[in-house]
Amino acid sequence: PETKPLDGLHVLITAGPTQEPLDPVRFLTNHSTGKMGYGFAHEAAALGATVTLISGPVSLPEPGEPTIETVHVTTAQQMFEAVQQAYESADIIVMTAAVGDFRVSEVAGEKIKKAGRSSIQIELVSNPDILAWVGAHKRTDGSQVLCGFAMETQHLIENAAKKLASKHCDMLVANNLRDAGAGFGTDTNVVTVLTPAPADASDSQAPIQPRVEKWQKMGKTELAHQLL
Ligand code: C5P
Repeated sequence: PETKPLDGLHVLITAGPTQEPLDPVRFLTNHSTGKMGYGFAHEAAALGATVTLISGPVSLPEPGEPTIETVHVTTAQQMFEAVQQAYESADIIVMTAAVGDFRVSEVAGEKIKKAGRSSIQIELVSNPDILAWVGAHKRTDGSQVLCGFAMETQHLIENAAKKLASKHCDMLVANNLRDAGAGFGTDTNVVTVLTPAPADASDSQAPIQPRVEKWQKMGKTELAHQLL
């Protein structure tokens, strides 16, 4: 039988947005469509991996491959719990989800009414950073590869380099929302790929600079293939 590059490996992917409820009819979310993460799931399966796809609410078709298990979640907290269940056996972990950084501190039990008010206050509290948690808990023998994403509107490389280091990623894929052909809902992406500096670069006192590669614009499926 034909051998494939990811045969025998388990790939864990987070995808899509999260929804954080305000009351029974309303929520906070973002423009993520899940295309990048679902692209990863299909490519990883095609390369021979078994895949756990943890997906926020998206309107993409459920992957039909028998080697992809899709877990549907709504909130960041639910995504966090699903990742905690799945991460230990994963060899490659790719976090493309646009996780809501904050949730409403007290979700209203009934629909919030206008009731003649000209403004209302909603208090938000921070959600767990799932990628940072996995970075802090992944195996230390290098047998688990962690890839994070970063979408920025300014200071792309500096912000991405900080995330690569602070979240203990092995790869950080940065895209600028302002680049043509990048970002939410598009079928293409323009990314810069950051990886930690090689060990022999760490002997100076200066902050260690990551390796930075700017990739040309490509389809999200092709990009997932190249990154895997
Ligand atoms: O810090 P920032 O949100 O820009 O980091 C983006 C990366 O972190 C993405 O890989 C995203 O999936 C992940 N993330 C996460 N949990 C959060 C926030 C971001 O896993 N609460």
